[in-house]
Amino acid sequence: MTGFLNGFENIVRQSEPLAMHTWFQLGGPAEYFAEPETVDQLIALVRRCHEEGVAIRMLGQGSNILIRDEGVPGMVIRLSAPAFCDLQVQGRTLTVGGGALLGRAVTTAVHRGLAGLETLIGIPGTVGGALHGNAGTHSGNIGQWTLQATVIAVGGEVHQRSTEELAFDYRQSSIDDLVILDANCQLEEDNPRELAQRMQKQWIVKKASQPMGHQSAGCVFKNPRGTSAGELIDDAGLKGTRIGGAVVNERHANFIVAEPECTAQDVLRLIDLVRGQVRDRMGVELELELEIW
Ligand code: EPU
Repeated sequence: MTGFLNGFENIVRQSEPLAMHTWFQLGGPAEYFAEPETVDQLIALVRRCHEEGVAIRMLGQGSNILIRDEGVPGMVIRLSAPAFCDLQVQGRTLTVGGGALLGRAVTTAVHRGLAGLETLIGIPGTVGGALHGNAGTHSGNIGQWTLQATVIAVGGEVHQRSTEELAFDYRQSSIDDLVILDANCQLEEDNPRELAQRMQKQWIVKKASQPMGHQSAGCVFKNPRGTSAGELIDDAGLKGTRIGGAVVNERHANFIVAEPECTAQDVLRLIDLVRGQVRDRMGVELELELEIW
């Protein structure tokens, strides 16, 4: 292993294929890939990379990301170890690690009779990823319940971001630090049974309107103000449009599904085609929600 990673041999791998770490299951390798086991190890690794000028990208569950076929240079870090996935409830406060699955946070809150996060049922990914892009639905988003977050800056310093520093908007978050270590959500007391019913309803609606169990990564484009990107793509007549193994989904047009033999390049070309057609036919410029590395 390269000299600059002395001492990190146990947690860093070279040329790690990233496809298997993403929902699209596409794309090339990461030059370096690390799964630290403790917070101290993570901080030390962030510092080392900073000193050496090696760029770091944080990967969550890979459910909102497309990796290019050529892969990514530098270090990719995933907070998969138990130290980053802790979940605790105290009164109305849920404290959850950035590496924990959002779905676990949602169901834990519901079972404890805490309302707020149930609208997020069915959204894949980690809590860190959800906060990074303020994941949400028409009924709510994670940011509106988040009062505090512990983060690590690019230089390795740990900071607390409290209410005054936190601002969330549609698929936008003021947290621009490298790592989201954990967050506190302040929820509302409610009846666990009614909450569970609301959650189930939301889940049924989602299952009926979106492709589940396919190789895809959620909505590709953000909704332009006051309208739905899915509806625009649908109205432009683009459902079923295919490039190579990438197809605009028939159930929800804002999803691209990767079929066998699909490459990241197919998805990228289909994204360009959809964007161009929606611009020409509907007069609207679509902005990506999906992250591309
Ligand atoms: N529609 C169509 N054709 C389609 C898709 C949708 O006509 O192919 C119409 C629907 O009939 C509906 C309207 O568009 O009248 C809105 O559709 P939907 O309720 O499915 O919501 P959306 O605006 O397309 C947003 C989020 C989803 C989230 C749903 C449910 C964005 C980009 N998308 O979709 O989030 O699950 O609301 O709350 O904000 C994601 O962010 O990855 C994502 C999937």
